[in-house]
Amino acid sequence: MKQDLIAILDLGSEDNSRLARTVRALGVYSEIYNFDITAEELGALENLKGIIVNGGKNNVVDGEVIYAGDWVYDCGIPVMVIDHAGKKAQDIDKLPESDEELQAALKPFLFDVCKAEANWNMKNFVADQVELLRRQIGDKKVLLALSGGVDSSVVAALLIKAIGNNLYCVHVNHGLMRKGESEMVIEVFNNQLKANLTYVDATDRFLGKLEGVADPEQKRKIIGAEFIRVFEEEARKLEGIDFLGQGTIYPDIVESGTKTAKVVKSHHNVGGLPEDMQFELVEPLKYLFKDEVRACGVELGLPAEMVYRQPFPGPGLGVRCLGAITRDRLHALREADAILREEFDNSGLGAKVWQYFISVPDFTSVGVKDGARYMGWPAIIRAVNTIDAMTAAIEEVPYELLHKITYRITHEVEGINRVLYDLTPKPIGTIEWE
Ligand code: XMP
Repeated sequence: MKQDLIAILDLGSEDNSRLARTVRALGVYSEIYNFDITAEELGALENLKGIIVNGGKNNVVDGEVIYAGDWVYDCGIPVMVIDHAGKKAQDIDKLPESDEELQAALKPFLFDVCKAEANWNMKNFVADQVELLRRQIGDKKVLLALSGGVDSSVVAALLIKAIGNNLYCVHVNHGLMRKGESEMVIEVFNNQLKANLTYVDATDRFLGKLEGVADPEQKRKIIGAEFIRVFEEEARKLEGIDFLGQGTIYPDIVESGTKTAKVVKSHHNVGGLPEDMQFELVEPLKYLFKDEVRACGVELGLPAEMVYRQPFPGPGLGVRCLGAITRDRLHALREADAILREEFDNSGLGAKVWQYFISVPDFTSVGVKDGARYMGWPAIIRAVNTIDAMTAAIEEVPYELLHKITYRITHEVEGINRVLYDLTPKPIGTIEWE
């Protein structure tokens, strides 16, 4: 293995992620471990250069104050103690607020005491993961649902590098993809990377099941369940699969709750397949933060469009074609959304705004076209910025650009005769309309 490792022991801190990110920003790889890690588990970590005991407010678990066992301090690896109510003196009372101060506080420990090397970079990460994946998988086969989103695309590219054609990718087009998306998956993975890719156009199945269904939660359920069904059918056609690839990333794990975290948010990546189809999981991105996943994609040669893609909900355009989905309105939505994306990209906003899209409601209003009455749907523009999607502020899109987008959508997209701009922050509005 190429990278040195700093282990962060979570002794009740609310800032484990920030600490891990800061250590990595200094060029040293770090991972977060639960307070009850055993000496054997710690001893098995390759290239372990130092341990940071990261205490804090959440230091009571099941009614007991938690401590790092004496063995942690006696194991021969340098230890730094932060805000810990244990027996040992603290090196830092609490994490400094500014990143510069935190880096300055960590540097002497990492480089003078632990003698860690600043060798954490994507080239080494990829090399290490390829080695680990080959060790884990051997000559067995891995199945991966490849949506074309950032995480599944990077997992696919990494697995192709590690095991080549023993990776079996399945791309299910549920008919609710944005314009050009499935085509891009095929171009990159089939044509460029020569992956084993099964493309399933299940548009008719999904739209059939969704016919007449207006309730958003019902729509989501149908899309989710049908997705599993289609994927399962494809999986059953493939013989001798032992592993399932997953695009789980570090925030999914850290935010699902280390043992001391107060808020436990379950994450949605895993599961869904029937019990008789149990695979071992392969999750090579599970220690990466989102920006690192993107950097990994770049290192693996994936196109920028794919790697810097804005978030897109699993149910896709299904929750933006508001109310009961019809094919003609879905088509109008897809075309209008493509124009919005193109104009955002051309103006430079695409790279700056966190999420931007069109929704089309299921009612029409009166308009005039070529001197005649023209009933059409409105297209609603939403453009928001956020850090964690829990709250969001709107992007103030320049009027000139809004006018241009309005002109193009109303002139180029059949069925749309008005364009509206959503000014609502979250809260009170959610990011999606449904
Ligand atoms: P809301 O609308 O809840 O959206 O403010 C927050 C973020 O989550 C995305 N989103 C979804 N993602 N499945 C997903 O994978 C869903 O059902 C879903 N609903 C919303 C939304 O696009 C935004 O980024």
